[in-house]
Amino acid sequence: MIELQDIAYVRSGVADLPTAVDFAVNVVGLELVGHVDGHAYLRADTRHHCLAFVEGRSGVLSSGFTLIDEDALAAAESELEAAGVKVIRGDRAGATARHVRDYLAFEDPFGNVVELVVDQSRLPGPVRFGRTAGITEFGHLCLDAPDVRVAYRFWSSLFNARASDWIGDMACLMRIDPVHHKLAVFKGDGPGLCHINFQVESIDDVMRSWHFLTERGVEIEMGPGRHPQSSAIFLYFKGPEGLTYEYSYGVRRITDETWRPRYFDPAEPDAIDLWRGPTKRPGTQTQIPFTAEPREAGR
Ligand SMILES: [Fe+2]
Repeated sequence: MIELQDIAYVRSGVADLPTAVDFAVNVVGLELVGHVDGHAYLRADTRHHCLAFVEGRSGVLSSGFTLIDEDALAAAESELEAAGVKVIRGDRAGATARHVRDYLAFEDPFGNVVELVVDQSRLPGPVRFGRTAGITEFGHLCLDAPDVRVAYRFWSSLFNARASDWIGDMACLMRIDPVHHKLAVFKGDGPGLCHINFQVESIDDVMRSWHFLTERGVEIEMGPGRHPQSSAIFLYFKGPEGLTYEYSYGVRRITDETWRPRYFDPAEPDAIDLWRGPTKRPGTQTQIPFTAEPREAGR
C-alpha cells in the first residue's frame, strides 16, 4: 500500500505564460514565488509551490503527491511495477524544477500523469498573496476519468485513498487524511485536470470573490453553492488555457473511523448543490500525453 501523505502540486503547460501568471496572481490571489527557465511557481501556503506553469504546450502535465521518505518512494516504485504500472524515475534536473529531492512519474489507468515526490521544499515565511482572497491553503485536486469506479479501484487498491462519498457514477471523492477529499475523480471523456481547489477562510471570502470575478467578466462555472458531500461552500471559475480554479470554505473533516461512503444520485436536485443553483460540470484542462516530446510538452 502506497501511503500518500498529501497533495503537492499541479504542473500545467501554458502557451501564454504572462497571461496565466497574471490571472493566478491578480485574480486568484496566489503568490508568484519566481520565474525560472520557462517555469512560473505559485504558492498558496508554505509549499514552495502548488501550481507550476510550464511554458510550452497548453494542458496539464502532472499532479503530484508527497510520500514520507525515499524508502517509501522506492517501495512505491516496486509496488507500481508489480501491478503492471510503468514507472519513470525522476532525474536531477526534474527534481530541481519541482523543488523536491526525488520523484517518480506514472500514468493512472486513463493516462493522467501522476508524480510521487519526497521532500517538497517549504517556504516558511508568510505568503504574499497577490490579492486578498482569503486563501488558506491548496485544498484538493480533481482528475478526470471515463470510469470513476475503475479509478477508485486503482486509487484504493494501490494507495491509501478511501472513498468519502460518491456522486453516482459522476464523481468519487477520496480522502488521504481527515479532509473529506484531497483527491477527486470526475467522469470525463479522457485524462485531464478537472479543477484545482483553494480553501478560503470564510463564506464572506467566497462571496466577495464571486462579486470580484463577476465584475471582471471571469467565467463562473458553478456556484456559489454548497456541496452536500463535503458541506463546503464552493465557487468554480475558469482561468486562461482551460484551467478551472475553485475556492471553497468549510470542508468536512472525517475523524470517525466508522464513516461509510454515501451515494448521492446526481439526478436529485440537491445532489451537487444544496442551494439548488444551476449546476454545470467544470471544464477540464486536457492531459498532455506522457509520450509527448519533453520539449514540446514543456517538461
Ligand atoms: Fe472541488
